[in-house]
Amino acid sequence: MANAEYAVAGVELDSPLLNAAGSINGPNAEGLLREVDLLASTGIGAITVGSFTIPRQEGNEVKFGSPTYHYDAVEGKTYNSMGLPNIGLDEAVALAPDVVSRSHDKGKPVIYSGSPTMSPESGESVEQARRLVYEFLQTGVDLVELNVSCPNVVTEGGGRKPIMGYDLESMAELIDVLASEVGEGQRVGVKLPPYVTDEEKLLIPEVAKILRAKNVFSFLVTANTIPNQIARNQDGNPILSVPNGAGGMSGPATKEAGREQLQMWHEQMGDRLDIVSALGVDSGQEVAVRRSLGAVAAEGVTFLWESDNWASKVSKVLHDFADAVE
Ligand SMILES: Cc1cc2nc3c(=O)[nH]c(=O)nc-3n(C[C@H](O)[C@H](O)[C@H](O)COP(=O)(O)O)c2cc1C
Repeated sequence: MANAEYAVAGVELDSPLLNAAGSINGPNAEGLLREVDLLASTGIGAITVGSFTIPRQEGNEVKFGSPTYHYDAVEGKTYNSMGLPNIGLDEAVALAPDVVSRSHDKGKPVIYSGSPTMSPESGESVEQARRLVYEFLQTGVDLVELNVSCPNVVTEGGGRKPIMGYDLESMAELIDVLASEVGEGQRVGVKLPPYVTDEEKLLIPEVAKILRAKNVFSFLVTANTIPNQIARNQDGNPILSVPNGAGGMSGPATKEAGREQLQMWHEQMGDRLDIVSALGVDSGQEVAVRRSLGAVAAEGVTFLWESDNWASKVSKVLHDFADAVE
């Protein structure tokens, strides 16, 4: 049963540990349901599924070969350029009742993550975002998370599509469109990119002002992976298969960055909305640190993907969390 001690945007969580977007995804609905079942039987606080884009996407592995995921165990750095492989909006909507019943049977709320792609063939990105949020809210999922931060959409020239969360004009337009067409006070959150460079950090108060202007988002997730990072092998060649070899970086080595992002956003938003903290969350101690810095919950991908057994990993993290807050 849900534990009222923990909640995101009024939705009670089983525990303060979530799986972050991208940990359960892929172009295969059966695989996705299998992972939902697997995670639902653990102590996880809620189940995040996606990110889903409007079109179905095979992801970068099909286009460029593998690997599109690499974990450097020595440095504790995760690199990914998965490129959002997913079943697409229509199938995600059709699958939602199944995802919800499997999760709710085990007392787990469901978070559906949607991601506009900045690809004009699927419409303007703000319109994509509106459609994803609007349609997901009808499905019976508990919360909808809007990812404005995917760094891994490869352009025809081999570069990367711009990240919406760094673009003030798009963010302002997004808030206006969602306020008028989806409404305020909904069960919707925004997943932001990390603001790492001095220039990016200057954007934080501006983005915060935009977010505060309307009550569109009831929670905020910070942060997505650090964009444009290149993992190299011993010969100095890029490991990831995508053009330029650049991917998003996360993992234990990004812990300090994750904490800093959380602190900066908590300072801006205070108690106006709930914050879920990601980037480098790898242990119960770290979940406790993130909560002490103002997050209602913490989440990750690497702690799951780099463990052989999700159930025992989640159980260990929660056990260590309980010890840490005693
Ligand atoms: C393999 C992989 C796939 C990811 N896919 C998504 C995604 O589809 N949508 C999203 O919002 N974030 C995605 N992320 C980012 C994570 O949700 C999260 O923000 C963070 O980077 C994970 O940090 P951690 O690996 O240190 O736990 C992905 C991260 C990884 C490692």
